[in-house]
Amino acid sequence: MSPKVRIRLCERQPLSSRTWLLRYERSDQQPITYVPGQFFSLHFPAEQGNQTRSYSIATRSEDVRLNRSLEFAITEVEGGAASRYFPQAELGSEIEMSGPFGALILPPLEQPKRLLLVATGTGVAPYRSMLPELHRRLLQQPTLQIELLLGVREPSELLWGEEFIAFAKRHPGFNFTACYSRQMPTEPLPFERAGRVIAQLDSLAPQADEATLVYLCGHPEMIDEGWALLQQRGFGVRQVKREKYLLSGH
Ligand SMILES: Cc1cc2nc3c(=O)[nH]c(=O)nc-3n(C[C@H](O)[C@H](O)[C@H](O)COP(=O)(O)OP(=O)(O)OC[C@H]3O[C@@H](n4cnc5c(N)ncnc54)[C@H](O)[C@@H]3O)c2cc1C
Ligand SMILES: NC(=O)c1ccc[n+]([C@@H]2O[C@H](COP(=O)([O-])OP(=O)(O)OC[C@H]3O[C@@H](n4cnc5c(N)ncnc54)[C@H](OP(=O)(O)O)[C@@H]3O)[C@@H](O)[C@H]2O)c1
Repeated sequence: MSPKVRIRLCERQPLSSRTWLLRYERSDQQPITYVPGQFFSLHFPAEQGNQTRSYSIATRSEDVRLNRSLEFAITEVEGGAASRYFPQAELGSEIEMSGPFGALILPPLEQPKRLLLVATGTGVAPYRSMLPELHRRLLQQPTLQIELLLGVREPSELLWGEEFIAFAKRHPGFNFTACYSRQMPTEPLPFERAGRVIAQLDSLAPQADEATLVYLCGHPEMIDEGWALLQQRGFGVRQVKREKYLLSGH
């Protein structure tokens, strides 16, 4: 069991129409160790007693060893204890945290030539956390190609769109596409597509070669559909990393 540490809420801001960005620091001011792509379990009070939910680290930190706080992006879902607690937690309030957990992390340097990073909703948080390392790799490995595909219902739910677009402008090897499943903007920009993210992944015709690595993170059904599609295309377990954001009842 990973030991629990106390953390204090130091900032909260809306990130999209249904999602909040919360920043926590350790109450004892110690650094927080993790690898971008991992998640923590947060233990918080609720009507039905203390609850635990998992959240990916969203922090974009140039040097994680010096990191003193953590950002989490939390989407409100109907009838959930965390969805009630986090949007209303008071600044300065303390909860407990354990972790880090998870293996949705980047592979050793120079291993893949093509990275396909696929997310729905807050499933994009791990990729935001990886941006500083992706920046270093794109500079060191000019042949590296990275596709980031993010699926949300509509433009008001887009997460860190401006950051990803700015990153893509800076790096010719990085491409960002937002997929809107329910509503398109009236005047779509070149990075915007209609439909679900798996249809967009399919349209990229991913090749199951040694040079390609795919990440799927977010809605459990998206992960299952994405994995089925990739298996049909000949991908095996070692070429696809998956993280399902299961709700507590499942
Ligand atoms: C590894 C991991 C990482 C995660 N990272 C994040 C993250 O970064 N950000 C984030 O927002 N979430 C993340 N999640 C999900 C998160 O842990 C919580 O489940 C989520 O915040 C909802 O919690 P809740 O207490 O509000 O709702 P819950 O109590 O979990 O669920 C709300 C209610 O909806 C019910 N429900 C059942 N099926 C459905 C369905 N198909 N659709 C809708 N509701 C259903 C549930 O049974 C429950 O009654 C992650 C989950 C995992 C496992
Ligand atoms: N069973 C579960 O455990 C469960 C179920 C739902 C959500 N969740 C979790 O609850 C939190 C909030 O979710 P959310 O509000 O971000 O979800 P959401 O808004 O309902 O979905 C986000 C995006 O994923 C798309 N999507 C849904 N199913 C898909 C599939 N099979 N293939 C491809 N795309 C698919 C949605 O498309 P559409 O608009 O077409 O639906 C939407 O564009 C997240 O942590 C999420 O992972 C868990």
